[in-house]
Amino acid sequence: GCAFLDGAFCAIEDAKISVLDWGFLRSDATYDVVHVWKGRFFRLDRHLDRFFASVDKLRMACPYDRDEVAAILAECVRRADLEDAYVEMIMTRGVSPTFSRDPRDAINRFIAFVIPFGWILRPEERDAGLSVAIAETQRISPLSVDPTVKNYHWLDLVRGMFEAYERGARTVVLPDGAGNITEGPGFNLFVVKDGRVATPDSGVLHGITRLSALDLLAEAGIEAVARPVSLAETRAADELFATSTAGGIMPVTSLDGAKVGDGRPGPITSKLIEAYWAAHT
Ligand code: PDD
Repeated sequence: GCAFLDGAFCAIEDAKISVLDWGFLRSDATYDVVHVWKGRFFRLDRHLDRFFASVDKLRMACPYDRDEVAAILAECVRRADLEDAYVEMIMTRGVSPTFSRDPRDAINRFIAFVIPFGWILRPEERDAGLSVAIAETQRISPLSVDPTVKNYHWLDLVRGMFEAYERGARTVVLPDGAGNITEGPGFNLFVVKDGRVATPDSGVLHGITRLSALDLLAEAGIEAVARPVSLAETRAADELFATSTAGGIMPVTSLDGAKVGDGRPGPITSKLIEAYWAAHT
């Protein structure tokens, strides 16, 4: 791996920040993850758009412009010497030199790093699919933390993951307080019923892979909409799939211990997986 920190490239083991950084102390940070597949970035523009929009929403200032960030990421990938890579860019509030409690006093920090790809579901596991539990733990309200700012507010997601492990599932999806599903630890969820596709529209990160899936479904002439998706319709779905940079389109074949459809990736999911990876070549 390779990192870029405080203006210089370094080995990933040497990338260390102060314990006084507000990113660490207060989760006051935003980040984005883009992947490199066979030596090429996938949808870097969309990730940079989202990253810079998040930085603005948090009233931070990135010391580098868009082209400079793109160049730093490319250099990190070159130095890491990886064909398939997980690339993360981060802005933290940084450290306040006067130890003040005013976020405006902190000096914002940009960090990037590149490590081997960390799949949520490996390609060779795709046929078996994911087993998912719907947690009791609710996703934090979008009125508290703006989910469109990609953030490290993961205490609810991690609590949900432990619920899932206790119930024998591989991963989790959190509900909101109104009987709808939201998202999981690092992925968005889609529901297929009678050939129609839906994905939650609020309380979720607007995933780049979610957007790719919506585009590819539209191109294939399949109705796909972002709208509230209830727990009941999730349980009654013909097919479920998850979307993430860290895995692409991933079939969900079991929900709370029950098979989704016949327990194998469904036709719309399979078609979408093919179209998604074809777009990578
Ligand atoms: N996570 N929802 C959450 C909470 C996420 O953290 C992510 C991505 C997604 C999917 O977004 P995208 O399609 O843009 O990757 C949804 C990244 C991969 C991570 O934290 O590793």
